[in-house]
Amino acid sequence: MSEKLLVVDDERMILELTSMVLTSRGFDVSVVDNALDAYEMIEREQPALVLLDYMMPKVNGLDALKEIRKRFPETYVIMFTGKGSEEVAVELMKSGASDYVLKPFSNAKLVERIENVLRIRSIELHNKALIQEQERLLDEIESWNRTLEERVEQKTVELEMAHHEVLLTEKLAALGHLSAGMAHEIRNPLNSISLFAQVISSGLEDEPEMKSYSEKIINEVERIDAILVKLLSTSKRSHFQLRTIHIDRVITTSLQPFLEQMNVQDVTLKTELGEKTPSLLADADELGQIFSNLFANALFEMKTGGTLSVTLESDNKEALVTVSDTGGGIPEEHLNNIFDPFFTTKDRGTGFGLSVVLRIVKTYAGRINVESNSQGTSFQIWLPLA
Ligand SMILES: Nc1ncnc2c1ncn2[C@@H]1O[C@H](COP(=O)(O)OP(=O)(O)OP(=O)(O)O)[C@@H](O)[C@H]1O
Ligand SMILES: [Mg+2]
Repeated sequence: MSEKLLVVDDERMILELTSMVLTSRGFDVSVVDNALDAYEMIEREQPALVLLDYMMPKVNGLDALKEIRKRFPETYVIMFTGKGSEEVAVELMKSGASDYVLKPFSNAKLVERIENVLRIRSIELHNKALIQEQERLLDEIESWNRTLEERVEQKTVELEMAHHEVLLTEKLAALGHLSAGMAHEIRNPLNSISLFAQVISSGLEDEPEMKSYSEKIINEVERIDAILVKLLSTSKRSHFQLRTIHIDRVITTSLQPFLEQMNVQDVTLKTELGEKTPSLLADADELGQIFSNLFANALFEMKTGGTLSVTLESDNKEALVTVSDTGGGIPEEHLNNIFDPFFTTKDRGTGFGLSVVLRIVKTYAGRINVESNSQGTSFQIWLPLA
């Protein structure tokens, strides 16, 4: 394909001559006799090179040169200048001309200069394209790196969580062996203590102060027993019966014992249990313990009012239950520990609640997640459906 050239000169003779010479050398030549027409032509034809006269009426050659270089950076310019204007030539080169030719010029010289500039132009444009391609590739590599870093980060977090869960499961299993044996051994003598204390108590009808002490013993023994029962349920599955159960019903049933407490504490209940009633094969009481523990924890945090939200969503694979409160939240540094058995921040807490929750969720091959900030806490539980 022949290169497009544009000759801009107000002398008709120059236009005709150069046009003839350059066309015969295989160039695709257009001519115009003023700068304004030149802009229009360049815009339309995008010539590789403009031969531009320095001395023209109206817009002078220098201004035209600057304008062309600014608006059409891929169009190169060779200037025609008159003899004796070498200083002008320097100025022209500074302003973006690729070369200049002194008038009058020989045809051979002109063609040589044109071919030279076109060669340089093609190299420079090629370089520019390479640099652009290089920048694009660098951008791409950078974005790959970012994606890779993000993935590594995400995998690391997942791995850490999986590791933590394995540790917890092992802890629970160890606790299970220990507590099953211990609870059994302790509950027998505890039972005797309670019985003797009751006997003493019934013989102290005339001494109310002493009677109150023995009743304190009975109460404390009951508290120890309750803790032991909880400990057992943390680590070990009690009797269970698998039936097809509906999760929304389990949630409603588990909420029942808390309604009065919500009333007293001025807690608003918001439930969204959906249209569908996802079902799975489970023990309703066991599953209910998940929600009871979460509700108890949530209400503990909202002693002076708040909102307890329970939502249930499901697709055909799993159900998602979200239990959120507007309590004080869990401090960041506790988030890793809340599922540990014995971890509690409460004076009278055992720290078993969430370990029971975790054990049961795992029993049904589910997952649990917690998000918390100073505005409240939200637990999400996924349970695979039958
Ligand atoms: N909804 C919640 N908002 C704020 N903190 C919570 C919430 N749920 C749990 N926690 C924190 O996690 C800890 C552990 O909870 P978990 O239910 O295992 O034990 P507990 O409630 O302290 O004792 P227990 O359940 O045996 O009475 C709590 O002591 C509390 O610090
Ligand atoms: Mg609890």
